[in-house]
Amino acid sequence: MIKPTIRALSAALLLISGSIGAFAQNAQLVSKEIDGRVESLLKQMSLEEKIGQTVQYSAGFATGPSASKLTYDELVAKGGIGSMLNVVGADRTNHFQHIAMEKSRLHIPIIFGLDVIHGHRTTFPVPLAIAASWNAESAETVARMSAQEARADGVQWVFSPMVDISRDARWGRIIESNGEDPYLSSVLARAWVKGYQQGDLSKADSVAACVKHFAAYGAAIAGRDYNAVDMSELTLRQVYLKPYLAAVDAGVATVMTSFNSLNGVPATANPFLLTQILRKEWGFNGFVVSDWGAVGELRNHAIGDGPTVARRALEAGTDMDMEGNLYATVLAEQIRAGKIPGSVLDEAVRRVLRVKFALGLFDHPFTEAGPAYTPTPEKRATARKIADETMVLLKNDGVEGSGSLLPLSAKIKTVALIGPMADDALDLEGAWTVTGNPRNVITLKTALSGRLGDKLLYARGCGLLSPKDAAALKGVTFTGTSTGSTGTVADDQQSIAEAVEIARKADVAVLALGEPTNWMEGEAASRTTLGFTGAQEQLLEAVVATGKPVVLVVLAARPLELKWAAEHVPAILQAWSPGIEAGPAVEDVLFGEVNPSGKLPVSFPRAVGQEPLYYAQMPTGRPARGDLSRMPRNAGEKFITRYMDEENSALFPFGWGLSYTRFSYSQPTVDHAEVSVGKVAADGKPVVTVGVDVKNTGSVAGTEVAQLYIRNTSASVEQPLRELKGFMRVTLAPGETKHVIFPLGFEELNFYNAALKETVEPTTYDIWVGGNSLATAETRLKIVE
Ligand code: NOJ
Repeated sequence: MIKPTIRALSAALLLISGSIGAFAQNAQLVSKEIDGRVESLLKQMSLEEKIGQTVQYSAGFATGPSASKLTYDELVAKGGIGSMLNVVGADRTNHFQHIAMEKSRLHIPIIFGLDVIHGHRTTFPVPLAIAASWNAESAETVARMSAQEARADGVQWVFSPMVDISRDARWGRIIESNGEDPYLSSVLARAWVKGYQQGDLSKADSVAACVKHFAAYGAAIAGRDYNAVDMSELTLRQVYLKPYLAAVDAGVATVMTSFNSLNGVPATANPFLLTQILRKEWGFNGFVVSDWGAVGELRNHAIGDGPTVARRALEAGTDMDMEGNLYATVLAEQIRAGKIPGSVLDEAVRRVLRVKFALGLFDHPFTEAGPAYTPTPEKRATARKIADETMVLLKNDGVEGSGSLLPLSAKIKTVALIGPMADDALDLEGAWTVTGNPRNVITLKTALSGRLGDKLLYARGCGLLSPKDAAALKGVTFTGTSTGSTGTVADDQQSIAEAVEIARKADVAVLALGEPTNWMEGEAASRTTLGFTGAQEQLLEAVVATGKPVVLVVLAARPLELKWAAEHVPAILQAWSPGIEAGPAVEDVLFGEVNPSGKLPVSFPRAVGQEPLYYAQMPTGRPARGDLSRMPRNAGEKFITRYMDEENSALFPFGWGLSYTRFSYSQPTVDHAEVSVGKVAADGKPVVTVGVDVKNTGSVAGTEVAQLYIRNTSASVEQPLRELKGFMRVTLAPGETKHVIFPLGFEELNFYNAALKETVEPTTYDIWVGGNSLATAETRLKIVE
């Protein structure tokens, strides 16, 4: 099991990445004291009160199709609701909590849950952007600050982290994920959980985390949200399950099921996932909540009528029904009739109550109303620093024979800021911010005009959507309201002409383009194309045609197709959805106050037809040039794995990201060229280390994310061409060198064999270290009998 935490052995010269630890469930949830309290309460509960603990309703706004209009006050007074979601604020939560504590017979507190995805009141960059910082500390900080703010709002349970491996940019929910890689995602999963729960659920500013969506939701067929998933158990275990396991290993208190079916069995009624793997193999001891309405929607999967699917979900291990309105309505009769053993319900109730006790809700059920939220300078500084580190410099060529376009030279006097994202607070904030407030977002226009005054020229350039697309989206409603921010302009061509005019007057044009995050990113936002929306591509081409130097800032939180831009625009900055400090963070990088250090957590395609696209491809018998293989170049051949109209490789590969300085890597070395299988398997500790010197060969300080990849060159089951197995952020002054060490042991070297057992066999591992997944500095490790 992966337990990759990053620690520095010596801050000065020696850095070590990764560490192995024993797998552990959440110790707080198995305490004798809590068990005693749970059992004594359970004895007093009626059947209806027990079922109540498995029921969750949204008594606020809806974040899915609404189930029913219920009178929640009465239900709570009867003990009919164990949890509520989307109820936010001390007064709203206290309202229901007072009823639960004072009017319900057994005074069992409600646990309030909410989608806290990238900050609660303070909106940080979206999770995929945070993943681009390859900085677990950032994820932990965001989670810790979110926990404090959520608790102050009466929320004790957050539906985060989302750790679905996401290898398909068509899938809108990629923005909520940590990207395509199981190792990176596992490191971040642990950090998110640690930040939310702080190792102690009873702390006044801890919340219970909820890892989601279990399982393999990111592999929806064709990238279409909610679609079925079909994959081998080998891939499931080797790739998709790893980050959820990392979260369980970090003590996550709850798990959310996914909407999809997996190999024909819906995840919400899937005993293999929820009982066999989660509970028996991993020892998970928290509770499982369904996704929104997913228990009720089992009927649409056509695996039974209401009572049948509710029974199947409960027996499989879904302890709480989120807004499905089915446990509440059909369980009692079946239990009375003996169709569902009472012990199954009792176990679900125990699991829910344990988390409530661990959170201290029985002793401190209410929330003291605090002052109204303001993004303090300290919060802004943290949000800005975190956003700074998410910026990925994709390209930075020179113009007219000079060095590189970025950072913008002090000689540049007039800047034309162009594009529909430049001043669009809502979309810069990013998708899925339930309690964020776009009014807190500092836009690019505000930040740059503060810096440049009348030397900043601005034109919106075009709408984010064409009027035609916007009209089509109007038919799509979200909780009753149609289309969000997504502005159109009266006449795109006229706006483009205005933009071209200001570009001509300026020394440089900064284009802020993206996609309407609130309507085309996140849940239920799959796309079949990955280009800029509306007339943005036309705008880009028109501005480039002026001959002025152009910096393209991409404000979209999924990989877009940037092929034309990569060929024609000298500098491209991938800025994602940066949150409240969007403008200042982009400004920091444009003007060189911050040296970009982000690296892509997901491959950027040349064309949408390459999706799902990821670096850890399996070998084929007919490899092609450009693949990560040792085969000779064979570009002219037909009968090889290739597209006839496009390269196989990513436009910008996983791990990619430039800096304003340059880094070099020495030849990596292993401290033991050969180790035995027995030693590797023996105690799970690292058995070899790979060392490499990383040097800043440029003239400014910078941070490099050193990455280690392996390939098992001879295994009983074929292995990917490369797999990430370590990384480390290394900050270096100009000319400085640091020695970085990556430990490797069973955790990094094992794979699932045909019998689905984690194993290490005699083989040779090729090992590369470098600044992205195309790293070339290489060494080898031999594993012998
Ligand atoms: C559905 C989403 O899939 C899930 O991520 C979210 O937590 C719930 N709705 C609650 O809003």
